[in-house]
Amino acid sequence: MSSKKFYITTPIYYPSDKLHIGHSYTTVAADAMARYKRLRGYDVMFLTGTDEHGQKIQRVAEEKGVTPKQYVDEIVAGIRELWKLMKISNDRFIRTTDPEHEAIVQKIFKKLYDQGDIYKSQYEGWYCTPCESFWTETQLVDGKCPDCGREVELTREESYFFRLSKYQDRLIKYIEENPDFIQPVSRRNEMLNNFLRPGLEDLCVSRTTFNWGIPVPFDEKHVVYVWIDALSNYVTALGFMTDNDSDYRRYWPADLHLVGKEIVRFHTIIWPAMLMALGEPLPKQVFGHGWLLLEGGKMSKSKGNVVDPVVLVSKYGVDAVRYFLLREVPFGSDGVFSNEALINRINSDLANDLGNLVSRTVAMIDRYFGGTIPETREKGDFDDELISLATETPGRVEELLDKLQFSTALAEIWKLVSRTNKYIDETMPWVLAKDESKRNRLAAVMYNLAESIRIISILIQPFMPETPAKIWEQLGIGGEAVEWDSSKKWGTYPAGAVVRKGEVIFPRIDVKKELEEVEKMTAQADKAKAEAKKDKPEEKAREASPQSDGEKQGEGDKEKYITIEDFQKIDLRVARVLEAEKVEGADKLMKLRLEMGNEIRQVVAGIAKYYSPEELVGKKLILVANLKPARLRGIESQGMILAASDGEKLAVAVLDGDVPTGARVR
Ligand code: MSP
Repeated sequence: MSSKKFYITTPIYYPSDKLHIGHSYTTVAADAMARYKRLRGYDVMFLTGTDEHGQKIQRVAEEKGVTPKQYVDEIVAGIRELWKLMKISNDRFIRTTDPEHEAIVQKIFKKLYDQGDIYKSQYEGWYCTPCESFWTETQLVDGKCPDCGREVELTREESYFFRLSKYQDRLIKYIEENPDFIQPVSRRNEMLNNFLRPGLEDLCVSRTTFNWGIPVPFDEKHVVYVWIDALSNYVTALGFMTDNDSDYRRYWPADLHLVGKEIVRFHTIIWPAMLMALGEPLPKQVFGHGWLLLEGGKMSKSKGNVVDPVVLVSKYGVDAVRYFLLREVPFGSDGVFSNEALINRINSDLANDLGNLVSRTVAMIDRYFGGTIPETREKGDFDDELISLATETPGRVEELLDKLQFSTALAEIWKLVSRTNKYIDETMPWVLAKDESKRNRLAAVMYNLAESIRIISILIQPFMPETPAKIWEQLGIGGEAVEWDSSKKWGTYPAGAVVRKGEVIFPRIDVKKELEEVEKMTAQADKAKAEAKKDKPEEKAREASPQSDGEKQGEGDKEKYITIEDFQKIDLRVARVLEAEKVEGADKLMKLRLEMGNEIRQVVAGIAKYYSPEELVGKKLILVANLKPARLRGIESQGMILAASDGEKLAVAVLDGDVPTGARVR
């Protein structure tokens, strides 16, 4: 076993039959990294899996009339198939429903509770009864449930809390002292400035409103809620806190947690704080990559087959899809996925540049020398330039891959592909072939081409699991000549190797025909979606919601713009406060009587912590007058007043001019 270990993880995926090509992004990148490290001689442990608990799963299973376990079993089988198709080389697959995982999460929870890092208190939030979901004030959309668009109620629930706030200073210190811990740097700054320095609140880690979760071992009406369950997977998979913990001792701390940018926060704040509380070492690095978006917004499988990884792989092959994912967008930034961009990349980089290079070279060696390059070779012009680029490339690729710069690493390899193609144009083998006295020169040209392709084929291995072997077959090589380190030794292509003409490795795609087909598929999907929405109006609201139980709100989740017509639907009016009084038993709520033209409105607002009733009386506020009435603590609220809040401070919007009440605000 190698003395160098590398433990790499992807996030565990929510079971969904709607995994789109964007989801494959994290896993494909992690796989490229795992393959690269194995090639470099590391003993790699590559973990992925599924995050299977939560209210949403429970609800969907109920709707389908199956148990949550039956429901997730089927979907998880599909996810495993997908990773097989994408040639993901994970060493383990963890499910949060694995009994071993569940038992260790209970031990972790108990330990944290026993030592005082978890305590019982009250969780206050906005509760949506039909969805049985809690939401924070900021998650509400127009004061309503972001999931189904219905009314929510301010409610309290007994919950366990993790003392996240206690670890704030230690976390800041750790992140400051370990600049590589959060990458890229922009995400590190975001964590420090937006979350850690403003202050952390303790985290609610249990729920009583649903039961599809791991029971809290000493209080069975609670289930462990989201993050303690999910994040622990990285250590439970290794047998942490069991008698069988040799993998934990060998592989922990993780060398790399690869995650999408929207979950960096959980991995760089909650997870390290949990590990600090457990007295365990922290992962060496968390890398937050960007998102793959569709033009005009968020990626979603309902956009049709065009983003279905299974369809894409069956159309274009796994290597082409993986190449595109890792080449198109600098790792760390957001990028746009389009079928056109994918096809163009395949045609230019793969079919034209690499595919042609291989088939032309093999065909020439076959035609001019019957398949084997003679050993008497004559050096000539252009050789040095090609050789020096070929010998520099492996080192550069390693340097870039060590920094997860997949796209630039591929660009470096493709510089060598282009340089090698140019070498054919420069040396013009077809001219040399006509002159018997140039046979030794022709042999050298063929050798240099074969050698350069050999190096390229070795370097593309982390990205493309299928193509290298196809190239080796055609070049007639194997063994030492295809080992990673031999890419650094020019002249390793073996004497006596026999090339074999084979199939075209990347066939060209007819762009026009293909895009027409894609358009047809999209239109069909749009039609199916419109029909589904006719039957299920709540589908629309659901689509805008994140996949988790409300903890995760990804950037890019909502469309960027609304129209003026959309805005005009909101009836904003000037309203004067006639009376204000605190709602008994709810320390945040204030009941207001407002004058709005000839009408009197009663509104319940969550502002009692920030204003006294006396301060409010007489003020002219802005009221959302056409909001559907709701009951808060049994009191009817006929509208909503506008206020600005950053989570800590709050100020109501007050009009400073002399406008009559009831006037429209626009
Ligand atoms: N279950 C949580 C993670 C818990 S880890 C302890 C989760 N699951 S997920 O299924 O929603 O996301 C899995 C991964 O897919 C994340 O890294 C996420 O960023 C990634 N992607 C999902 N859609 C994506 C794009 N459109 N583009 C790139 N990656 C995105 O979060």
